Amino acid sequence: MTDHNTMNDVENAMEGGEQSPELTQLYADFEAKNLSPLWTQLGEVMTDVPRSKAVPFVWRWNELLPLAARSGDLVPVGRGGERRAIALANPGLNGHPYATPTIWAAIQYLGPHETAPEHRHAQNAFRFVVEGEGVWTVVNGDPVAMRRGDFLLTPGWNFHGHHNQTDQPMAWVDGLDVPLADHLDVGFFEYGTERVTDYSTPSVSRAERLWANPGIRPLSGLDSHVNSPIAAYRWEYTDRALREQLLLEEEGFPATVEQGHAGIRFTNPTNGGDVMSTLRAEFHRLRAGAQTPSRREVGSSVWQVFEGRGEMVVADHTWLLEKGDLVVVPSWEPWELRAETELDLFRFSDAPVIERLNFDRTYVAGRER
Ligand SMILES: [Fe+2]
Repeated sequence: MTDHNTMNDVENAMEGGEQSPELTQLYADFEAKNLSPLWTQLGEVMTDVPRSKAVPFVWRWNELLPLAARSGDLVPVGRGGERRAIALANPGLNGHPYATPTIWAAIQYLGPHETAPEHRHAQNAFRFVVEGEGVWTVVNGDPVAMRRGDFLLTPGWNFHGHHNQTDQPMAWVDGLDVPLADHLDVGFFEYGTERVTDYSTPSVSRAERLWANPGIRPLSGLDSHVNSPIAAYRWEYTDRALREQLLLEEEGFPATVEQGHAGIRFTNPTNGGDVMSTLRAEFHRLRAGAQTPSRREVGSSVWQVFEGRGEMVVADHTWLLEKGDLVVVPSWEPWELRAETELDLFRFSDAPVIERLNFDRTYVAGRER
């Protein structure tokens, strides 16, 4: 067959037109041998820019919380189910319980005096607390208090369980690299004890006593570790760091991401990198009235409003967001923020993976990069 005929057949095949009986037979033979020709699907295999199957989406906290509370009434937490966690399922991802192609995000709910049993898994996890307190997460035997605004780590293969010491339920957000682990076939899971191994309730964990001292490392821990040893990044420090950035900006010193936009990244004190190998976490604060330029980034993010009100634009969506609302920004979709009041947002993403593999690109409207 000549090249010319091949091209005609390809065009015909793509347009659904006639193709020769020989070519029809060839495609049938390909299929019978589990083969697939590139030339009929190049546009799907190699897109001009990232075109995520995940779609921009918002979940409202004032809808999530009552649903989680109903599951608290109806569904026990214990061995087997392990956690009363309800995943954000992106409508673009064919029913998978994934917020993005790499990120699992869920609201977890623990009733008064309940215990979620200990287990461990290869997948990395964190928790972020938008409101409430009274639960301790016990990570490798270290009880870690969970309070409003805290960001807490459970790196892969650490045993962990949770217990609620109060008469009130508590809900928080879990973030994990479950979809990435699924794509890569790297998951391992193991049950631990049905109760947590330590029911004590210290206000500060042993990990924080050793590691969470600003700019200081213990001489007993000078080696670099893949995951941060800090079990909890406390709101007190996050809030202070953001507040000081905005004060420094007012005083005329460089400190913020851009005018009116303070931002911090949670880091691993042993190497200065991200808190875990697969997940990045940041906190952003916009002054009332501030707005960010439109950005596109390779890799996907989930944002949660911690306090305040403002608009988020993602692609052709504009959402008015309030406390607790969660938004998915798929890879390369443009996003921007407009703060109505002072606006605090927690953000997590797969950026460490994207950067480690050299796929990272960023485009900021109005800036050369
Ligand atoms: Fe877990």
